[in-house]
Amino acid sequence: MKFRCNNLLVTGGSGFIGSNFIEYIFKKYKNINIYNLDNLTYAGDVNNTLMFKDNKNYKFIKGSICDTELIHDIFNQHKIDGVINFAAESHVDNSIVNPNIFIETNVKGVLELMKVACRFWMDKNFNYKNEFLNSRFHQISTDEIYGSINFGSFKENHQYRPNSPYSASKASADMLVRSFNITYGLNTSISVSSNNFGKNQNNEKFIPKIIECIRSKSEIPVYGDGKNVRDWVFVNDNCRAIDLIFNNGKSGEQYNVGANNEITNLDLIKIISEIMSLDFKIGFVEDRRGHDLRYSLDTTKIKSKLNWYPINDFRTSLEKYINNLIDHEGI
Ligand SMILES: NC(=O)c1ccc[n+]([C@@H]2O[C@H](COP(=O)([O-])OP(=O)(O)OC[C@H]3O[C@@H](n4cnc5c(N)ncnc54)[C@H](O)[C@@H]3O)[C@@H](O)[C@H]2O)c1
Repeated sequence: MKFRCNNLLVTGGSGFIGSNFIEYIFKKYKNINIYNLDNLTYAGDVNNTLMFKDNKNYKFIKGSICDTELIHDIFNQHKIDGVINFAAESHVDNSIVNPNIFIETNVKGVLELMKVACRFWMDKNFNYKNEFLNSRFHQISTDEIYGSINFGSFKENHQYRPNSPYSASKASADMLVRSFNITYGLNTSISVSSNNFGKNQNNEKFIPKIIECIRSKSEIPVYGDGKNVRDWVFVNDNCRAIDLIFNNGKSGEQYNVGANNEITNLDLIKIISEIMSLDFKIGFVEDRRGHDLRYSLDTTKIKSKLNWYPINDFRTSLEKYINNLIDHEGI
């Protein structure tokens, strides 16, 4: 498969999924320049980029996706012809305490990126300039936009019903992407994935937190009764899906990305404890406000249209990830 652009702007590339994605792309393709725009919030870590920071085709730029002037300079200087936007405030709990920053980054940031992309790739009548005919803006979205579902699975055309300020901000961004596609003809795509797991994930997230609590023999904080169900996709499978959608997906379309590994939070803890061969203690805490019971994605579209399937078995990749942490970080 040929990569659709030469100078790719990846935002949030020092975070969990973004850093895995850049590593994946550098392994798979030659001669693609990647510019990583990240303002290194608490969730961004330069250590996540160690695998590729010395690659001659890689450049890190510290800054925010809300900074229009900076984005414009980056497009201008590096002739950016593709954007994949991972940058976001991504922790639901934080969005309950401080929703404003979620609107700022997750909504306004996306707007600024798309405005600059339109200005740079198109003429004043919104016709693509010849050298940017292949250019595309890809937005990374989340299964949380559809809200909770007790039975069955959400298809891409299901109504959005976000229940937290985080998911509302991500849903709003998707709406903006849609509007830029329809109003200005911006070439866009969206990937909507379930929970990812794998290396470089921040310790505030559920799987790293479970591992850390089991290791330190402290109580694992579990919301409500622990029966909330999530689907878990290995981050490498998601990276493969994003690559496929960015390059071969249809403009204006969105694709669900999930692995059918639905499991309750309590069962997930049991599996991790088994893998680590250590006992666990649970400290049930008052349920999160607006806590969704179950997320579930119907992934028929990406399978039938783009021939994407998750290839990493849940238990095996979880074991590999945990054993790697134990080997490298001594947990
Ligand atoms: N982690 C998951 O399970 C999951 C699931 C579905 C969708 N997503 C989405 O995937 C994307 C990446 O998630 P993640 O888990 O890697 O997040 P993360 O929190 O690990 O990383 C986010 C990165 O964005 C950077 N960032 C934040 N605000 C920025 C700004 N204003 N300008 C530039 N950079 C900024 C941070 O410094 C960090 O490096 C997000 O859009 C998230 O909504 C994540």
